[in-house]
Formats: sequence, C-alpha cells, structure tokens
Amino acid sequence: ARTVKLAVIPGDGIGPEVVAEGLKVLSAAAPEHDLAFDTTSYELGARRWHATGETLPDSVEAELRGHEAIFLGAVGDPSVPSGVLERGLLLRLRFAFSHYVNLRPVRLYPGVTTPLADVAPEDIDMLVVREGTEGPYAGMGGVVRKGTPHEIATQDSVNTRFGVERVVRYAFAAAQRRPRRRLTLVHKDNVLSFAGELWQRVVREVGAEYPDVSVDYLHVDAATMFFVSQPQRFDVVVTDNLFGDIITDLGAAVAGGIGLAASGNINPENDFPSMFEPVHGSAPDIAGQGKADPTATILSAAIMLDHLGLEGAARAVERAVAEDLLARAKDGAAERSTAQIGDAIAERVAGQG
Ligand code: NAD
Ligand code: IPM
Ligand code: MN
Repeated sequence: ARTVKLAVIPGDGIGPEVVAEGLKVLSAAAPEHDLAFDTTSYELGARRWHATGETLPDSVEAELRGHEAIFLGAVGDPSVPSGVLERGLLLRLRFAFSHYVNLRPVRLYPGVTTPLADVAPEDIDMLVVREGTEGPYAGMGGVVRKGTPHEIATQDSVNTRFGVERVVRYAFAAAQRRPRRRLTLVHKDNVLSFAGELWQRVVREVGAEYPDVSVDYLHVDAATMFFVSQPQRFDVVVTDNLFGDIITDLGAAVAGGIGLAASGNINPENDFPSMFEPVHGSAPDIAGQGKADPTATILSAAIMLDHLGLEGAARAVERAVAEDLLARAKDGAAERSTAQIGDAIAERVAGQG
C-alpha cells in the first residue's frame, strides 16, 4: 500500500467541519485503491492566534514541508483583525511553498442548478489557472501620513518575468491536454499597462511554442460579463492573482455555488508540498451549525489525489460526488447536514473499484 504523508490544517469557522468530511471520503477511498493516509493535524488559525499570538511558527512551517501534501479547510475569523490569518497563514504558505499555480476548475455537474438560463453541463467546463504568488498579493506598498487628510495607501502589483512565465507555461500545457485547446488571458492591459503588457508578451512568446492552442484575450471586466452570458467561450483561463480570486467566486456562482468550488495550490515541480482547499472561506455566518456543504472540500481532495499521481482514486471520488449531485437533484430539496453529505459520498466511493 502507498502511504501518503498528509498535513491537515482544519483552520477556522466551517473549516474543521468540511475537512472532517474530506478526510472521511479519503479514508473510504483508501482500501479500494491500496492507499493509506498518515495524517498529522495542525492547530493553526484563530484559536492559536488568541492563545499565543502565533499565525505560523517557523517550526510548524518546517514540519509542513516534510509532508507530501497539505489539506486545508479555511482560515479567517471575525474575532481576529482582517488579514492577520489570511496573510500570516494562508498566503504565507502559498508563498513559502511556491504555489504559483492556483488551480480552480469551474464545471457544471449534471443535476446541479445554475442561475444561468439555457446552460447545459457541457457549456461550463473551464480551468482557471490563477497565479498564486505575485500580483497585488505580494504585500508591497505602504501607508504614509496615516490618519491625516493626506494619507496615501499604495498596494503594488508585483509581476515578474519569471513568475508570469512559469504560470503561463503551465496554462498552455494544460490547454494542450484538453479537447478544445483554448487559452484565454484575462487581464486589464488597457489600464494596468506595465503588467498587462508583460502578461501579453509572455503569452505571445510561450504561445509560439503551442501552435495548436488558440489564444484569446479579454479584459477582466468583459470576462465577468462573458462568464455569465457565454460561459462556453472559456476553456483554460490564465490570469493574475487578484483577478483570479474574483472570477473564481463568480465561476463558483455560475456552476452551482461556492459549496462546490474546489482548488489546488500547486507547486508543479514538487519542490514543496502542494496545498488543497475549497475556494470558499470560513463562512462565520453558518459555522458550527452543520450547514456547510463539504463537496468543495471533497472535490479538492480529488485534485490532491490527481496531483499525487493517484488518478484512479481521484476519478472514484469525482464519480462519487457526481452521483451524489445527481441524487440531490432527484430527491428535490432534501436538506442534509455537512456530515450526511460526507457520509453519502463516502459510502458511494467505498462501493467503487
Ligand atoms: P466565505 O466563502 O467564507 O462566505 C461567503 C458566503 O458563502 C457566506 O454566506 C457563506 O455562508 C457561504 N459559504 C461559504 N462556504 C460555504 C459552504 N461550504 N457551504 C455553504 N455555504 C458556504 O467568504 P467571506 O464571508 O468573504 O469570508 C469569511 C472569512 O473567510 C474571512 O475571514 C475571509 O478572509 C476568509 N476566507 C478564507 C479563505 C481561505 O481560507 N481560503 C477563502 C475566502 C475567505
Ligand atoms: C481564496 C481567498 C484568499 C485569496 C484570501 C482569504 C487570502 O479569498 O482562497 O480565494 O484571496 O486568495
Ligand atoms: Mn477568494
């Protein structure tokens, strides 16, 4: 049996609730696929910060580095100033472990209700490749004359040739493996001219190596419109960190809701562990009530299995989710708890070869 050394960060709010279901499904998939998960859970997030003032001690970062993958729920809590945990824990891990590909599939599963009219599952099947380590997330900038009427806050967007090229290369390679072989760069080069021109030039140059991939460009504002009016336009989308954050919440909304949107923070070279988490946050408004949909987390576990080279198990988890989503459509609006959804998917995955 292959044993996967997995670090688990349940985090805040609904994070622990949905992570428990993800682990449940992984355990159910394990025997059929000759797998075992050696998991270590790390208490990071609001409780630790209140108790010790720590977000991510260096010693914990070093321990995480020794794992094959990280499975994360969500971080952020109303009792902690905004950004402390998001920057100090989540972004710190993405940066430290060079998660330059933030992979966010947007797919409409059969049976799932979309707010878009006249849209079938085959109309929404995209892969957003969001840059994960640069852009306005880099933390460059600052404040001067704070508290005065002349206060100036700047927040610089960092775009390096190295950083843009590596994510664009990944996106082209991904597009080439997909049937439609189409790549759309989403940016705002009519305003953000320095960064936009760099992204455009890199896409042109790398694209010359992929003559069979057709390339398109959309300004991000127009892209949000087409996500809603013509989702069929999109196959692989490559974009910067902030645009990618925004358009993937929109993608989640058009493909059945944030409770279904999965992601992987990938270091393709495997120099560091990659990290898998739902697109959503800690949802303080529903935390502790068993109301969170764990499906996004379970699908993130499938992305993790794929990354680990465990395609058989990944497909089995995806299939179990797809079956459960179809069953939900048939049962009408049967309200199920977080654990009930996890149980149902785990049961289906255990029954598959
Ligand atoms: P959110 O995604 O937590 O919640 C937005 C809305 O979606 C809420 O109404 C919530 O109840 C609902 N929702 C989210 N996940 C759901 C699920 N699985 N099932 C059903 N409903 C779900 O975003 P927010 O409210 O903007 O942020 C809340 C906190 O989470 C903030 O502290 C934010 O910084 C943090 N956050 C963390 C991550 C992360 O850890 N990757 C991502 C986004 C936001
Ligand atoms: C996400 C979240 C994070 C992001 C926040 C919490 C830092 O919104 O994973 O989409 O902006 O990347
Ligand atoms: Mn987000």
